[in-house]
Amino acid sequence: MKVKNICCIGAGYVGGPTMAVIAQKNPEIKVTIVDINEERINAWNDSDLSKLPIYEPGLAEIIKDTRGKNLFFSTEIDEAIDRSEMIFISVNTPTKTYGKGKGQAADLKYIELCARNIAKVATTDKIVVEKSTLPVRTAEAVKSILDNTGNGINFHILSNPEFLAEGTAIEDLLNPDRVLIGGESEEAIDSLAMVYNSWVPEDQILRTNIWSSELSKLTANAFLAQRVSSINAISELCEHTEANVDEVARAIGMDSRIGPKFLKASVGFGGSCFQKDILSLVYIARNYNLNEVADYWEQVIIMNDHQKRRFSDNLIKTLYNTVSGKKIALLGWAFKKDTNDTRESAAIYVADHLLNEQAQISVYDPKVPKQKVYADLNYLNTRSEKENETNVAVENSPYDAIDGAHAIAIMTEWDEFRNYDWEEIYNKMKKPAFVFDGRNILDKNKINKIGFKYYSIGQ
Ligand code: UDX
Ligand code: UDX
Ligand code: ADP
Repeated sequence: MKVKNICCIGAGYVGGPTMAVIAQKNPEIKVTIVDINEERINAWNDSDLSKLPIYEPGLAEIIKDTRGKNLFFSTEIDEAIDRSEMIFISVNTPTKTYGKGKGQAADLKYIELCARNIAKVATTDKIVVEKSTLPVRTAEAVKSILDNTGNGINFHILSNPEFLAEGTAIEDLLNPDRVLIGGESEEAIDSLAMVYNSWVPEDQILRTNIWSSELSKLTANAFLAQRVSSINAISELCEHTEANVDEVARAIGMDSRIGPKFLKASVGFGGSCFQKDILSLVYIARNYNLNEVADYWEQVIIMNDHQKRRFSDNLIKTLYNTVSGKKIALLGWAFKKDTNDTRESAAIYVADHLLNEQAQISVYDPKVPKQKVYADLNYLNTRSEKENETNVAVENSPYDAIDGAHAIAIMTEWDEFRNYDWEEIYNKMKKPAFVFDGRNILDKNKINKIGFKYYSIGQ
């Protein structure tokens, strides 16, 4: 069946870019993205494209081309569901913050609400596509809700996990390594494959059973995160042995069995997926009593927490064991470059730790607004909102952020950080002027020559 109307529930970092590309590549399909968050929908509809709720290189151009033609943003959820033959569920599945599985299991309440909503309003057969990352066997629950509360129509459930990375979402969507579709009904799988066929060659569309598809997404993220924790573990060893982690990464990456990507040592991985998905994998393994499997993957998170912690510990130790009352400038707040997303960003945890030691924090990030920085810190509940406001300044210019600072901590690998006038920065700082490069982006020789005391990861 050729699909004519698509509805996507959830206008976030996944739903927004994915549907924009689907709409661009399928001008004959009407794509409607719905969300309960009216403010977010209004932002997606804003005529000023710089006000879109998410920043992704190349996204605004595609929105400009498609919005109002065959791409629509709306809060009229029921209407969009009923009209569409295919419905993507692309809502958030955060780690549970309450009850059983608190701190580990994925919270599926938003998924369940979507399933109930679809069941309630659908009056014709639907293909329901899981886009959000979900624990293996979630489709079973979705199917049960749809079949038991629906209006007696047919639902086909597909799993079609999204592998895009933020910051390169559009490029990843336009040139995916593969598109994965898991399901039972060949016909439903064909309908979805046809949507992707508009730009993805058939041999890159992988068809599996639904459980393999769900588990592949968790596994891919677990493997990627594991690579980062593995190289970060080696970075600590490098610091004690005079080996250089970037040299080690290059050397091992040339082994085609290992490969060169995802071997950049850092202050620790962040983002909405890695930690959440590994915790979910660990929780599922424990549920099946597979304790060795659970312990194995849990170590990836333990290593990542250790890496963030040892970064701030090292900063404090180097500043003569106290940062109390000292201004520390954090360059970068996003969890990686080219995104305004801050979920699980290492910067949040480093700042929190330094604040516990009574540091005065100043933050500059090219894309993260002030309120977001405060919201992230307040969410941790470590201290009062007032204290965060008093002890954290968020600046619009990097030069204001570093003015009079004892140390700079580079938290995000934004390209612009490399090209700053580091001489001027040096002159504006307290001496000795320290730089802690959590991303190994600066030229060590150049920075040392200016007079900075420079510390990087694994060197
Ligand atoms: C290894 C390294 O590959 C090589 O670069 C190094 O110089 C020496 O150690 P080797 O032990 O000879 O080489 O064989 P390898 O092919 O790496 O296999 C090691 C073990 O892993 C074998 O028991 C193999 O069966 C197993 N293996 C390998 C798997 O179980 N699955 C795999 O996907 C790959
Ligand atoms: C990840 C997966 O890459 C993507 O396929 C999936 O769909 C969603 O989760 P994302 O979290 O957006 O994407 O970004 P990613 O590029 O994977 O980076 C995650 C974190 O790891 C970032 O904090 C990044 O800075 C860090 N990282 C990544 C490293 O520290 N070193 C590396 O070598 C790679
Ligand atoms: P992701 O990174 O997975 O895209 P986001 O949090 O950016 O996650 O986006 C998920 C979106 O889903 C949010 O905008 C949220 O308001 C929306 N959402 C959550 N539950 C529902 C629901 N039941 N109906 C409609 N939209 C929902």
